[in-house]
Amino acid sequence: MDGTAAYASNLPSRTEEIAAALAASLTPGDVVTVSGELGTGKTTFVRGASRALGVEGAVTSPTFTIGHRYRGRDVDVSHLDLYRFRGLSAAEWGDLEPYFDDAIVFVEWPEAGAGVLPPARFAVRIEHRGGDARIVSIRDADPRVRHGD
Ligand SMILES: Nc1ncnc2c1ncn2[C@@H]1O[C@H](COP(=O)(O)OP(=O)(O)O)[C@@H](O)[C@H]1O
Ligand SMILES: [Mg+2]
Repeated sequence: MDGTAAYASNLPSRTEEIAAALAASLTPGDVVTVSGELGTGKTTFVRGASRALGVEGAVTSPTFTIGHRYRGRDVDVSHLDLYRFRGLSAAEWGDLEPYFDDAIVFVEWPEAGAGVLPPARFAVRIEHRGGDARIVSIRDADPRVRHGD
């Protein structure tokens, strides 16, 4: 099914709850892009989803590394941040590919990976609404159920 759901959040913990609810529907191989300006809560969202998937320990922004791969309860969770990238070369994609192997993958700043990353199952966008208010939009972009297939 194609569709977008939008949720209001006014606390980091609320953004984590929204992410946890989404996490419950994810399976290995799923890619979730997380877009939005700096400080909207992309990493907070990935943290909430990761916790729900059983990741323990710190879930922090991988801005200064290419990514993190965590062990969850039943499945590994990868967290990529493409902030530093303008596009992805074949060599860079080669470095990233292992993160996609048998894992649920969250990608912050996915724009640089357009056309290179595997298609996303969900596209999340977070927007500032003043103070701690955010709008979290989740678009079901399931590549497995394309119209016309
Ligand atoms: N409703 C909210 N949802 C998410 N984060 C919020 C919210 N309100 C305030 N914040 C704060 O905004 C910041 C978001 O940081 P982070 O998740 O690293 O954002 P990003 O990865 O988008 O740059 C944190 O300091 C967090 O405490
Ligand atoms: Mg971040």
